[in-house]
Amino acid sequence: MPLTLKHTGTVTLKTPRLTLRRYRTEDAPAMYKNWASDPEVTRFLTWNAHKDPSETAAIVAAWVETYESEETYHWGIEYEGELIGDLAVVLANWKHGYAVLGYCLGRAYWGKGIMSEAVKAVTAFLIREVGYHRIIIRHAVKNPASGRVAEKCGFTREGVQREHFLNRDGKFLDIVMWAILESELPG
Ligand SMILES: CC(C)(COP(=O)(O)OP(=O)(O)OC[C@H]1O[C@@H](n2cnc3c(N)ncnc32)[C@H](O)[C@@H]1OP(=O)(O)O)[C@@H](O)C(=O)NCCC(=O)NCCS
Repeated sequence: MPLTLKHTGTVTLKTPRLTLRRYRTEDAPAMYKNWASDPEVTRFLTWNAHKDPSETAAIVAAWVETYESEETYHWGIEYEGELIGDLAVVLANWKHGYAVLGYCLGRAYWGKGIMSEAVKAVTAFLIREVGYHRIIIRHAVKNPASGRVAEKCGFTREGVQREHFLNRDGKFLDIVMWAILESELPG
């Protein structure tokens, strides 16, 4: 029997410390300052750190337009009133019911459990409210902090995809694949 997803679009999610919410055009300066301009944050991401705030402004403006679709899941992470990171469904397959998450956080906020808190909330939402069957996290072998986030959120390490991702420096990276199933969601 085919799977039916109930798309809601990006709705606000609250966790004990965080508000996960839609981007607004006025978020661009905070995004530039807190993470988009930092090459250490973008080291394992698909994009280069921004060199000018106008780059960030253009991207945020484009993201805001994507909310017209109820199939967009893209949150800014707000902590103590400041926008400090990003969490999104970067790839989805509706037929087979899986969604792949991508995320990043301002370096000043690393190591406080913030991304794990955000990923837990988004995973529960995508499974319980939207109806996804399987949520996936993938990261470079060289980026174990991301794997630790997956592990702390109850995902299972499924293996390594060898030279699966062509990095911006022209080198192929080995990628670790983690997933959590609907039946494994805690609580
Ligand atoms: C990956 C990232 C989102 C983690 O966010 P965070 O809020 O610091 O994550 P958490 O605090 O919830 O958990 C991180 C865990 O990784 C661990 N960790 C950090 N660096 C590590 C390393 N080099 N090796 C192993 N574990 C590491 C931390 O100790 C922590 O685990 P603990 O709680 O058991 O101590 C953040 O580091 C980041 O934005 N990195 C740059 C962007 C990025 O790489 N995104 C992922 C792309 S796949």
